[in-house]
Amino acid sequence: MLRLVDFKRCALAALLAGLIPCVPAQTATPPETLQVLHWWTSASERKAANVLASRLAEEGVTWQDAAIPGGAGLGAGKVLRSRVLAGQAPEVTQIIGESIKEWAGIGLLLEFDNVAVAGRWAQVLSPTVYALVQHRGHVVAAPLGVHRINTLFYNRPLLERLGLKPPANWAEFAAMAPRLKAAGAVPLAQSAEPWQVATLFENLVLAEGGPALHRELFVRQSEAALADKRLVLALQRLRTLKAWMSPTVQERPWTDLVRQVQRGEAAMLVMGDWAKGELLESGAVIDGGFGCAPAPGTASYHLYSVDTLTMFASDYTHTDAQQKLARIAVQPAVQAEYNAVKGSVSVRRDADLSKMDACARDSWTAFMQGAAQQAPSLAHRMATDETRKDVIVAEIHRYFLDDKATPADAQQRLGAIFRALRLRGGQKAAAINP
Ligand code: BGC
Repeated sequence: MLRLVDFKRCALAALLAGLIPCVPAQTATPPETLQVLHWWTSASERKAANVLASRLAEEGVTWQDAAIPGGAGLGAGKVLRSRVLAGQAPEVTQIIGESIKEWAGIGLLLEFDNVAVAGRWAQVLSPTVYALVQHRGHVVAAPLGVHRINTLFYNRPLLERLGLKPPANWAEFAAMAPRLKAAGAVPLAQSAEPWQVATLFENLVLAEGGPALHRELFVRQSEAALADKRLVLALQRLRTLKAWMSPTVQERPWTDLVRQVQRGEAAMLVMGDWAKGELLESGAVIDGGFGCAPAPGTASYHLYSVDTLTMFASDYTHTDAQQKLARIAVQPAVQAEYNAVKGSVSVRRDADLSKMDACARDSWTAFMQGAAQQAPSLAHRMATDETRKDVIVAEIHRYFLDDKATPADAQQRLGAIFRALRLRGGQKAAAINP
């Protein structure tokens, strides 16, 4: 089929060459194209995006990729803001967590309640996921998968060679770390990128205080929670864990850390389970080269990040195609295929567990237990809006880098931040994420 732009190009070339001009094919309806802005740039992430793109192509819609590198979407967020300001919003964007409400709040997102009603989203989605994709009672995002941020990846042959089991808590980790170090491996792979430091820290808070303390701190930003002894323990743990990381913790992409563990240079890594997607994509085998377990001390909890696609309404010329994509995203077969590649689990309550690997089954089962076991990830925008997340993450990062900073310093500075945020936005965070 000849697209309009190809036709123009062909006609111009023919004209210049003195040839008979091209004739557009009879069926030359230009295929509908959706530009999709996202931050899936690793091999497995791209493969997962391709699952969606191929299904969309079957429906006559072209997925035009606009992938912006940068783990956790920091680059993508900036590009999105500048494109919207320039009047060039993409038709589809990976916007997740509380950011959905921010963009919907200024009236830029397409509402597609009709798709949700037809697909019975209220009945088939996990209640947490269904709440996430709505704004003021309207559906504004299509859910793709649930990632578990409290996942421990480990090099299985290395642990087995030393007769070690994955640690069930941080005390067990501390007990086995010297042996790993003596065997020449970095016990814990870690990057100094702020979001990756925050990932580890929120895991430590969850281990100490469960979802309740995690929510008090990162959703409600409660000053009372800052005084909690368990927060002090988490801050101390973050400091002492540095002894078991590389001598200089550098800012490295998460994919580098995955490879460190895969090669046995590092023994373990706490990371969202997109790392599983990446390990599988590079040929590693669960319970062969690597294993996954809940992060130490968090076995019954689920620290989640839900991936979602939102649609910019703009002039409403792409509504049909955008709705097709939203519909496709939630279809059982697409859910199964996409999540198997991405490392996340289905957003559906009726997912087929027999098709999942052991890590996915464990994640899905923990998540579906409901809100009491769930903690919304700070690093991945599930707990609070972008600005609040950024300042809290920056403070955790500062504390991590500065070995002279004490837990009391961090508590004080976070207290000042929480007060300032309260002045800025009233009780907004508590109201939108009770
Ligand atoms: C997203 C994942 C992505 C990860 C690493 C998270 O915020 O939810 O889909 O794989 O960041 O970039």
